[in-house]
Amino acid sequence: MKIPAEIVQNLNEQLNRELYAHYLYLVMASYFFERELAGFGAFFLKQSEEEREHAMRLFHYLMEKGATFNPLPIEIPPKNYESPVSCFQLAYEYEQKVTLSYYNLLKKARDLGEYDVEEFLWWYIREQREEEALMQYWLTRTTLVKDNNAGLLLLDKEARKYARKRD
Ligand code: FEO
Repeated sequence: MKIPAEIVQNLNEQLNRELYAHYLYLVMASYFFERELAGFGAFFLKQSEEEREHAMRLFHYLMEKGATFNPLPIEIPPKNYESPVSCFQLAYEYEQKVTLSYYNLLKKARDLGEYDVEEFLWWYIREQREEEALMQYWLTRTTLVKDNNAGLLLLDKEARKYARKRD
């Protein structure tokens, strides 16, 4: 069954949000690499790659359903962060925004009786739960150490281990 045009457009918008996250986390990886905090850099690189995979999953779904991929402009993410805390704050806020957009789309798909789309979207709802929890965890940890360099270096080590574990 063909997906209604409105939902196809919404799926394309979700794809764009995922690509923005890919970009955003690349910028954040660069922020940390530039400060010799390579553990956090690796963490955001890994997150960035995952976001690209989320975008590709949407792309393949559109193709499978015989729908069109409509490229949309990708906004340029902010580049200057005050601190690691502000990075994680922004990442956490963005993840919440993405979650909300999936909720809205899932509700619309259900209301329109688009159950295949709904089923497809549940994967993203679960993924968002994990990603929000992850960013919240690191936001709390970095807030605890704030400007304490020794603490930050310890967290950087932990972030590196985390990024490796998920290779
Ligand atoms: Fe794939 Fe974090 O949104």
